[in-house]
This record gives sequence, C-alpha cells and structure tokens, in this order.
Amino acid sequence: MTLARQHPIQVVAHRGASEEAPEHTLAAYRKAIEDGADALECDVRLTADGHLVCVHDRRVNRTSNGRGAVSALELADLAALDFGSWKAREALRSRDEEPDWEFRPEDREQTSVLTLERLLELVADAGRRVELAVETKHPTRWAGQVEERLLHLLKRFGLDAPPDPAESPVRVMSFSARSLHRVRTAAPTLPTVYLTQFVSPRLRDGRLPAGVGIAGPSIRIVRSHPAYVERLKRAGHGVHVWTVNEPADVELCVGLGVDAIITNRPRAVLRQLGRR
Ligand code: G3P
Ligand code: CA
Repeated sequence: MTLARQHPIQVVAHRGASEEAPEHTLAAYRKAIEDGADALECDVRLTADGHLVCVHDRRVNRTSNGRGAVSALELADLAALDFGSWKAREALRSRDEEPDWEFRPEDREQTSVLTLERLLELVADAGRRVELAVETKHPTRWAGQVEERLLHLLKRFGLDAPPDPAESPVRVMSFSARSLHRVRTAAPTLPTVYLTQFVSPRLRDGRLPAGVGIAGPSIRIVRSHPAYVERLKRAGHGVHVWTVNEPADVELCVGLGVDAIITNRPRAVLRQLGRR
C-alpha cells in the first residue's frame, strides 16, 4: 500500500540494512545507502585502545567469530574477526527467496569491524545527503570518554557544531540522559534523541530530559500508548520510533505523524511509503 503524507517521514536504516546484510558492517551501510535510506543508525562502543567502533552488544560473540567484550579488545583484535559469516549462514537457513546481499569472503572490508571514522567517510562520500544517528552505548562505564571521542571525531568531519540544529546531518541518541547531557554541554547545537523502552510516569506527559529535542520511543510504546506520541508532538518534540519493521507499524507511525522510522528494512519501508 502507498501511504501519502505531507512531510516525508525520514527512513533510518537501523544498524544499516540489517535485515539483509550483517548489522553494523560496511556491507549493511552501503546497502542502506543504495536502497535510498535517508539516514543510518549505528551504536558505538570504545575499544580497549580508545577507538569508537560500531557494535551493538557488549560482547562480540553474537555478531562475529570471536569472543569477548569490545572494551577488553583492541582495534587490531577486532579487525582480525569476521563480522559477516554468521549472517550469511542465517540467510542460507531462513531465506525462501534469493537474498539481495551476497556474502563475498574475499571482500574482507565489507564484513570486518567498522569504525565510526570509516562510517563517517562512507557518509561523506555517499554522493547525496545521508544523515547519521549515533547511539552511545554503555556511556556510564567510560565516564564521558565515549562522548568525548565521538565529538572529537565529529569535529574532524565538521559535524559537531551545526549552525541550525534542525538542519544537522548528525544526531546523538542514547538511553542514558547523562550521556545526552554530556553531549549537549560540549556541543549545544547537536540534536539529541532520548531513547525509551517504557514510558515512565515521569515522562508520561511528554516531557524529555532538559534540552533534549527528540524522543525515541520503541514501537511497543507507540502501539500501546499512541496518545503519548500526540503529547510529545504537542510539547514540540520530534519523534523517532524504533525498530519499525512490520507494515502495520509503519502505517501506525505514518498515521501518528512521527518524524522518523528506524527500521532494519529501509527498502521495504520506502516502498510502502511510495518512495521507491
Ligand atoms: O534506534 C534505537 C535502537 O537502536 C535502540 O535499541 O538495542 O537496537 O540499540 P538497540
Ligand atoms: Ca541502536
């Protein structure tokens, strides 16, 4: 079904085009860009030697052929791992149609660990505007180092101080209000997104932590409390919903007028929105 809307909802590729390609790899982000995603979502963690890498879990066990916590491994250790084969095996097991993404073991770069720096280069070379939503993971453990490194890197790419926050190609997301506070203190014009999995009584009236402009509720919250989205919008906040993969949920988000849909299936969502 094609859904008409006055202002296009932004389609954000969650961990890249992660339904088809292995999450957080160059392959997944290249595919998302090819598919037409407006923005890319990525989680960042610090390695033992201080590099920001795009990995969701605390440990690398699920998404690579290695073991151990990202924070205990150096970038060189991570670079020796394969972050793609698990997905190729999963695709072989579960697919009833030809996959759109093909695992090529000879192309190591597409499935090795991805640094945030490399992802920023990819976005800079995309040939069109592609936004980036960076999520800080486990920022408490590092007491500000994740944010510091992130802002340092964004500065190198000229992205840390957008003159108009509404036009910023980068935003920082977190479940941690403290992490977002650190970002706002050091980079006051960089937009921040407060992610929530549950609506706590404190947030029910649509208020967000001070200075945060965008709410990031889970699709579960949106399904069970659609009025919460109305409240957020009335309070003047942007609403970015994750992780929206089912057509009925896309329709719900469109109906509620959310600003961004964060999805593992950017191509399918763009098609549903009539944009492909
Ligand atoms: O985009 C927000 C979403 O990614 C938060 O959940 O666990 O997938 O990082 P998670
Ligand atoms: Ca995330």
